[in-house]
Order: sequence, then structure tokens, then C-alpha cells
Amino acid sequence: MEKMVILGGAKLAGTVHISGAKNSAVAILVAAMMVNGKCHIENVPHVSDIEVLLEIINNMGGKACFTDKSVVEMDCSGLNSCAATYETVAKIRASSYLMGALLGRFGHAQVALPGGCDFGIRPIDLHLKGFSALGATWNVEHGMVELSADHLAGNNVYLDQVSVGATINIMLAASLSEGLTVIDNAAKEPHIVDVANFLNCMGANIKGAGTDVIKINGVKELHGGSFSVIPDQIEAGTFMIAAAATGGDVMIADIIPEHMEALSAKLEEIGVNVDRYDEAIRVWVSCEKLKSTNVKTLPHPGFPTDLQPQMLTLLTLSGGTSIVTENVWDNRFKYVGELNRMGANVSVDGKVATVEGCPYLTGAPVSATDLRAGAALVIAGLVAHGVTEIYNLKYIDRGYEDFEQKLRNLGAQITRRSAETVEESAAHSIG
Ligand code: UD1
Repeated sequence: MEKMVILGGAKLAGTVHISGAKNSAVAILVAAMMVNGKCHIENVPHVSDIEVLLEIINNMGGKACFTDKSVVEMDCSGLNSCAATYETVAKIRASSYLMGALLGRFGHAQVALPGGCDFGIRPIDLHLKGFSALGATWNVEHGMVELSADHLAGNNVYLDQVSVGATINIMLAASLSEGLTVIDNAAKEPHIVDVANFLNCMGANIKGAGTDVIKINGVKELHGGSFSVIPDQIEAGTFMIAAAATGGDVMIADIIPEHMEALSAKLEEIGVNVDRYDEAIRVWVSCEKLKSTNVKTLPHPGFPTDLQPQMLTLLTLSGGTSIVTENVWDNRFKYVGELNRMGANVSVDGKVATVEGCPYLTGAPVSATDLRAGAALVIAGLVAHGVTEIYNLKYIDRGYEDFEQKLRNLGAQITRRSAETVEESAAHSIG
């Protein structure tokens, strides 16, 4: 078991280059399983979620590997399985996309109920509602979802709740169905648009991605081609918040600034300077103390839930009381206990966290409870007085490419070491 060791206090400065979007890449790699031909996919982040997915694809008879730092070559012409077992899929939530991709390609899918970060009940009722509308029958038994359809036919699907996963899954299956599918109340996240663009490059016919009505005209087959994944909005946001928290001056490069607007506006509201360029944003701090504010997470274009832990951490150091409301997930404040151990003053009541600004945080041994909570603890460690040790790095490794190196390049004092003793490892092991 490894731990991250951070000596807090350095103001981050310089330029950081943002990798491809993890949440987009995982969906695109699964979408490429529907393609009869070779796919050349660029700007894929080298993170553990992607490694797991490549393994799943290869185990199912496809061919997929990194041929360069961020390039994945795939050929799933020989894909010969429509079953993904628990051992293979439990590690990543995005394996739920296998349902839509395999159903679309083979008319049959057997997929273990997905794993992923643990911050609340993660139902798939909306995914199943969409598949049923397309003519599939489904059955959940022994932890596996089995889906079958003699014939997939387009239909209207209204999502009762905005869901990224259900929108992508229905788009996947509908791409190879017969006729028109209309998804109403669809999610509008940047990676929905990216997945639609990928599918269209491979011959699909999808219109309206990025709005709440997506229209998919089914095609008979998808062909190979080349594509480049969009920059990671959440990685970019994490570095923007880290720059602000440390009172630094950082150019966040290779991004789409429009994707960052909800965060940029919030940072400006609390006194952070945010300069927007064509493909970069500079974040810098010129005041002594940041102001408090209220944040409510919402589906895109609202404030992203995946930046909630990082933003709350920044607010622990503001002058005043902030209210953070989590509207997307039921249980996404588990990390707050760890932050409070570092001197933060945060209380949680259901979906609402009250953050009382404190003068400083102090370094402590802490454990990541999920991917973005792990990133939040890194930010806390960067600003804390003294040394912070972060355990459970497997969560952070799921979604951040070269995290420590990128932070070191900005002046952070951060290293990764093995946890010295068995007792030390056991004491910080969660899940
Ligand atoms: C995706 C992201 C995740 C992010 C989330 C919300 C990926 C791989 N993961 O997760 O990082 O936090 O979007 O932006 O892209 N829901 C239902 N029924 C369903 C599906 C979802 O009730 O069938 C609910 C969920 O419980 C949750 C809300 O809808 O409360 C949003 O979930 P969803 O957008 O589907 O999240 P994911 O796609 O799993």
C-alpha cells in the first residue's frame, strides 16, 4: 500500500497541461466496442479506470491497447462475448455502458451490476427504462443484468431524472437500433457531446447532444475512424481550485474554458482572479482572504458534483460561513470527517454542509473515501501547515494522470511512498 506525503505551504505557480477527460474516454472506449473496424483514439488519459476497461475489452475478444502515451488503438471486429462478470466490472462504474453497447451490437448483454465510487445508491432504473422502450427485455438475478432483444426499434424515452449514464447508454443502444429514438430530459454534460461526436464520426446519426432533447436515427453498422477525446473538465477544475487554495498563480492549459464556467464564476465570486483565454484559464489570487459563498451542485451547466469536495475544501479557508448543497448524490460528504481532522469546521445535515471558515488547516494522516474526495484531501494537504499523509490512493489513481508530477511541476512538495508498516496500511484501509 502506498501513501502520498505532502508538505503544505507552497503557492502553486506555472503552467499545467490537462489530460483527456476520463469520464468521456471510458464511454468512448465502450462505444468503440460497437464498431466493426479499427478506432484510433487520441488524448486518452492513462489512469487506472482506463487500464481496467482495456483489460475488460481484451478479455471479451476485442483488441485494445495504448500505442503511445495517450493513444489507444482498438479493433473490436472480433469481439466474441456479450458477458462481463463481476470480477471484471466491479472496479468501475462506467462498465454499465457495456449494457448499451453489447445490447446494440449483439441484441444480448449479460453484465454484472456496476461498481465505482461509493457516494450513495447508484440505481440503473433509468438505463433499463430506456432499453425497455427500445424493445429489450431485462432480468436482474445473482447480481447480473441480462438484456435481450430480437429487434431493437427506436422510441421516445423521457428520463424522469437527468442521468449522464442513462443518456449515454440509451444513445449507444439506439445508434444500432432501427428508426428514430428521442431522449427527452437528456443530460447535457460535455462528455455526452463528446460520445455523440465519436459515434457520429464512426457513422452514427445523432443530433441534439448538449441540449435536453437528443435524436438518434439508428444505422446498420458503425465503421472505424479517428477521434480525439475532449480535455478533462474535472481535472482542470481540480487544478483551478488548488491554485486558488494555495494563493498561487497557475495557467491551466489545453482546456475548453466554456466547460469551466460554473466554477470560474464561483471562484470570481469569492475573490479569485480568473482570466479566460482560447484554450486556457489563468487562476491567480491577489487578496489576503477569500470570501465565503453558497454552492449547489446540479447537472451541467450547473456546478458539477465532481468538483464539490474540492470546492468545499477551498471554502474551509474563506472568511465566513458557506453552505454547500449536494443535489446529485445522496451521500457525498463522507470525506468531511477527514477534513475536520485537519482542522476544518464543517457540519453535515443530509445533503447540506455548513462550512465555517477557519484560519488554517493542519497536516494529518487521512484516507481518501472516493476519487474526488481524494483530490480534495490533496488540496487540503497543499495548504495545511505541516505534513499530510494520504492513504487509499487507489481512488485518486482512478482518475488523475500524473497527479503528483503535475503538482510538483507547479512547486508542490509532494511524493508517493510505501506505507511503512502493515499496521499503518491496515489503519487507513477503507473498502
Ligand atoms: C456520472 C459520472 C460521475 C458524476 C455523475 C453526475 C461517469 C463515468 N461518471 O455518473 O462522475 O458524479 O455522472 O454528474 O461519467 N439515477 C437514477 N437512476 C438511474 C441513473 C441515475 O435515479 O438509472 C440518479 C443517481 O442516483 C444520481 C443521479 O441520477 O442521483 C445522477 O446520476 P448519473 O448522472 O446517472 O451519474 P453516473 O452516470 O453514474
